[in-house]
Order: sequence, then C-alpha cells, then structure tokens
Amino acid sequence: MKMNRLLFVLCFCASLLVANSVAQQESARLSANLALTPPMGWNSWNKFGCNVSEEMIRNMADAVVKSGMRDAGYQYVNIDDCWQVSRDASGNIVVDPQHFPHGMKPVGDYIHSLGLKFGVYSDAGSKTCAGRPGGLGHEYQDAIQYAAWGVDYLKYDWCSSTTQDARASYANIRAALDAAGRPIVLSICEWGTAKPWLWGQEVGGNLWRSTGDIQDRWEGKKEWKPGDCCSYGVLAIVDQEAPLYSYAGPGHWNDPDMLEVGNGGMTDIEYRSHFSLWAILAAPLIAGNDLRDMRPEIHDILTNKEVIAVDQDPIGRQGKRVWKNGDLEVWSKQMKDGSRAVVLLNRGSAEQKINVNWEDLGYPTHFSAEVRDLWQHQDMGKFTGKFSAAVISHGVVMVAVRP
Ligand code: GLA
Repeated sequence: MKMNRLLFVLCFCASLLVANSVAQQESARLSANLALTPPMGWNSWNKFGCNVSEEMIRNMADAVVKSGMRDAGYQYVNIDDCWQVSRDASGNIVVDPQHFPHGMKPVGDYIHSLGLKFGVYSDAGSKTCAGRPGGLGHEYQDAIQYAAWGVDYLKYDWCSSTTQDARASYANIRAALDAAGRPIVLSICEWGTAKPWLWGQEVGGNLWRSTGDIQDRWEGKKEWKPGDCCSYGVLAIVDQEAPLYSYAGPGHWNDPDMLEVGNGGMTDIEYRSHFSLWAILAAPLIAGNDLRDMRPEIHDILTNKEVIAVDQDPIGRQGKRVWKNGDLEVWSKQMKDGSRAVVLLNRGSAEQKINVNWEDLGYPTHFSAEVRDLWQHQDMGKFTGKFSAAVISHGVVMVAVRP
C-alpha cells in the first residue's frame, strides 16, 4: 500500500514536471520569432507626451495607412505613458476614462482592423516616469489584461524601480507576457544603466534602450534638472551606440530611442542624417511625429524604401563606424547579399569630401563595385577600390556598394 502511494506520488510529480517543461517550451515558442527585423511603427511620446487620447490614436493609425507608412513597413501604433490613472480594488489597471472613454480593447481592435499592431507602455517599478501606476507586483495581472486587449508590443520603463534588479525585473515581465498566451514584443526601456545588451536577449527582450532619452536636437545633451542627466541629441546617441554593434541581431536589437524626424528641432538635412544613421544601426524605426500633417520632405524621409531596406535587412547586422577623421565618418553595414550599405557622415560646419575605401568595407582594393545613391535613388556607376562624394554640413551621402 505504502509502495503504491509512493508510486502514485512519483508519477504525479513526473507528470507535473513534463507538463511544466511543455508549458515552458510553449512559452519559449510564443515569443521566439518576434521582431526578427527591427520593429517599425509610431509612438506617441516624442510629440504628444502625456496628451494621449482614443481619438488621437485612432487618427494616427488612420494616418499610418493614408500616408503610405504602413506600406513602407511601419506596423506598430504604440501608446506611451499616461493612458493609465490608477488601480481598482482588485489591483486591475484603470484606463483614463476621460481620454479613453471606451477603454483599450476598442482602440486595439481598431488598430488591428487597419492591418496594424497595437502597443502600450508601462514600467517595471511602482510608478511610470510620468507618475502613473507602474507594473511592480502586478506583472501577471497586467499581462493578462494586455493580452485581452490584443496588445502586441509592450514598452517597459524603469522609473521608480529603486533597488530592483533590472535583469530579474525584465525576466519577470517576459515570463508574465508569455504566460498570458499572446506573442508580445518586449521593449526594455532601462536607458542602458545596467548594460541590457549583456542580458536583454537572454531574458526575452526584443529591444533595449541603450541610452537616455533622445531630444529633438542634432548634438549635445541636456540635463533634465541639475544633477539629473540627460536627454541627448542624435550625434551623442550615435556615439553611445557605436560600440554595441555585436549585441544586435534578429529578435534582439539595440534601441537608440525613437525617431524625432519631423518634430521641428532639426533641419531636414539633419533629419535625413538621423534616419540614415538609425537605418545603418539596424535600429527600431519608431516614428515620433504627427503623421496627420507631415510636410512632403518629412514624409519622403520616413518612407524612403531603399533606406528602410537597409534597416530591415534580414541578416540583422548593426552597422559599424569603419573610419573617422575629425568630423568625417564612414559607417558600413553588411547586408545579406554580401553588399554593404554605407553612410558618409559630415558632422562639421562646412561641406567636405569623404572617401570610402573598399578595404574599410572588408573588400579587396581591386574589387569593382556598383554604387547606388539611396537618397537620390540613382546608380552612380562602377568604382574600383574607393568611392568619394562631397557631403554637406550635418549631412550624409548614403550608398549601397555591390561588388
Ligand atoms: C522615459 C522614457 C521615455 C518615455 C517617458 C514617458 O523617460 O525613456 O521614452 O517613455 O519615460 O514618461
């Protein structure tokens, strides 16, 4: 009798173990094939901050379609901070009833009806960066709610995280999302403090911010308040991203923050450089401007399919800075077909000629290669050993080099 009971207990435990490992495999599968190329979409924060509403988000989703951005590859419509106001007596997150009068599900349904995907924002700590309720202690409950709303993308911030361990906190929300049974892209927004490029992939993060917030400016940085550093211009972010190239790949990307293209703080030349650099960095392309009234110049930057193709190349290599001399730089990204996407960047204040030597791209000098200008949409002809171009101040020339 005793033996029978022992056998029963053993069998019961074994079946639990098997069920558990099957469940684990299931959840590993669930989030395994997300973000195989850098995510593309739109997010409310850079332009609208806390001014989010159902109406604005619906209009923006319409604009993603009407502007041709959806056709260019933009998929996610992401509501950043400030959609949430409190928790109810059972701990459920409460959506701002004034700005989202129908709750979140209809917003997600509408976005999906346009063939787009739906993203929301929360925070691993007790409060979001705008002081709204965070996710701490509610991870599984929130994940179930997000899944029920049809959420496809979660940006998870790091404010009010006090003594929390970053790696453990993000592993926890990934486990919660997987347990909720819906494949959800996890965007780790920890600003690079605990070097998420070293552990982000392992905990199931699909992208991780590697820097503080972007600011709509070309260079430099600005303290938030005295002693509290900083938000950064495009060049400052690029310099922080440059050494991280080996950590990016399909499903797991360094995130230099969302785009500021079209928000008014830079010239169109600088916005074109910003977009080109994000593409060569294989960065997520999350537009942050008002898509409802874009100038044609801004539209043409955001929807340049040749530049987007560089960002979205399936091999998923992040480009490297392969040459630098003062204000002049050459960046190169290996593409799946063996070609290179190349950015010639002039950070200086006057036009300068920049040379690209094949050796710096990893090609022998005697190779002859076709060069195509990705902004002029023009074949430049065949070149042997090198290519050079005049690059205007704060501008880029972006080319494909195909031997
Ligand atoms: C942090 C993030 C930003 C944005 C705000 C929202 O600063 O880094 O991208 O999400 O919070 O409050």
